[in-house]
Amino acid sequence: MKLLTIALIIGCGAVCGSLARVAAAQAPRTTWNGIYTDAQAKRGQAVYEEQCLSCHSPDLKGADQAPPLVGPDFNADWNDLAISDLFERISTTMPADKPGTLKPEQVADVLAFVLSKSGFPGGDADLPAQADALKQIKFLSKQP
Ligand code: HEC
Repeated sequence: MKLLTIALIIGCGAVCGSLARVAAAQAPRTTWNGIYTDAQAKRGQAVYEEQCLSCHSPDLKGADQAPPLVGPDFNADWNDLAISDLFERISTTMPADKPGTLKPEQVADVLAFVLSKSGFPGGDADLPAQADALKQIKFLSKQP
């Protein structure tokens, strides 16, 4: 009887552990999962200062025609969408005075900087610059 209990505990240890790993692997990744690195956000800050700041302002709160890139309006525009949509928006339409001039890596870097300013945490791997990978990550303005 005692042996059986021990066997059950050991058995669950193995099975339940792998079930938990499967669940974690399948849970959708969001902006709260550490999807960029601090070093990348720092590179992105340089891109921002050179290519975006003149219109979107130093604090990312926007000015004149240029909308904010932080705060409730920005969150409402992108909440629940894939990060790939925001990436596309920047890479095809920004900077508004010379769209399409940024390399994909620069777009990923500046996006990392923009996300860092919303308070999303950094992590161990750079935000990728490939649409396929970015489609798997969701913009969630509120921590789940
Ligand atoms: C010449 C001014 C200008 C520059 C430079 C510029 N933007 Fe914009 N941006 C705008 C304007 C105006 C809009 C809104 C109208 C539009 O889409 O063209 C906008 C919209 C956006 C949006 C959409 C925001 C939303 O909530 O819908 C994002 C994201 C954005 N810009 C990011 C950037 C980034 C990142 C850079 C730098 C790589 C940049 N912009 C450079 C003027 C600019």
